[in-house]
Amino acid sequence: MSLVGKDIKYESNAFKTIGVLTSGGDAPGMNAAIRAVVRAGIFHGFRVMGIRKGYNGLIYGDVTEMTLRSVSDIIHRGGTILQTARSPLFKTEEGLEKAMSMVKIFGIEVLVVIGGDGTFRGAMDLSKLGMPVVGIPGTIDNDIGCTEYTIGFDTALNTVQDAIDKIRDTAYSHERCSVLEVMGRHAGHIAISVGISGGAEVVVLPEYKADIETDVIKPLIECRNRGKRHYVVIVAEGGGSAVEISDIIEKKTGIESRATILGHIQRGGSPTVRDRVTASLMGVRAVELLKEGRVNRLVAMTAGKITDIDIKEAMEIKKEMDLKLISIGKILAL
Ligand code: F6P
Repeated sequence: MSLVGKDIKYESNAFKTIGVLTSGGDAPGMNAAIRAVVRAGIFHGFRVMGIRKGYNGLIYGDVTEMTLRSVSDIIHRGGTILQTARSPLFKTEEGLEKAMSMVKIFGIEVLVVIGGDGTFRGAMDLSKLGMPVVGIPGTIDNDIGCTEYTIGFDTALNTVQDAIDKIRDTAYSHERCSVLEVMGRHAGHIAISVGISGGAEVVVLPEYKADIETDVIKPLIECRNRGKRHYVVIVAEGGGSAVEISDIIEKKTGIESRATILGHIQRGGSPTVRDRVTASLMGVRAVELLKEGRVNRLVAMTAGKITDIDIKEAMEIKKEMDLKLISIGKILAL
């Protein structure tokens, strides 16, 4: 083993056994990523162990060997065949120690983790204890700073878009305002994208502190004065509550309003082509890194290309919202 820059570089072909897990919120395309890790892994001569239920499976030894056929017929399926979990125990010293002893028992020499921010923080903790890791970004939120794209984002956007189209039909019929709450945790990437694709009159984001009077009520009244008779408002879950905003709109403008919280429907469904292809390419890249002995890295997308970056450096990058999208959305909602 030698130190190259910030990276730990092992000899090429130093590892024989990979463990793969999905952790945190599931995202459409995770199965395509698992499939790519297993198939490319076996192609390159690795033994691949599947760890079920995220870091919980690592702690409790829920581990099974994957074959070429374990990943047949999954590329089109949402969710994750390995299942997933949010593991409070893994965040403790005791949990980490248990996980470390389990990797030894199963002979896992390197871990591929597919998930979001929390998953990568867990991976970093393991790497500090000497467990080599590689991460693949999978979350519908698209909120990982080091990558332009996370697996599942496009499918979630299309699910939300389908809902907006349906909601718009009924909003038109009743001349109502529909207020739709979408996921994204502390980020508004889903909201801003579907705000544009769905032609929303107003988008409420966590990245921009909205004033209800000037940023929600006033634009809706102006739209009404320009002749609009039905309205779509998108609220990112981190930016406010659709129910509360809908009530305020109705009280202040007299426009009949209805709130819809889309919830976990956004996490399911067959992945889009973009998610299947990205997940497949990212999975293959993860295996190539392992073959080269390059670990403690995250696979990412930069300028549309698959890249990789040191995990610690990656976790320090904060994803910025392109605020220009907000002004574009406003112009297009005139
Ligand atoms: O990170 C994905 C996500 O769906 C977020 O958008 C949302 O805030 C959160 O997970 C919901 O988590 P859970 O499924 O644990 O309720």
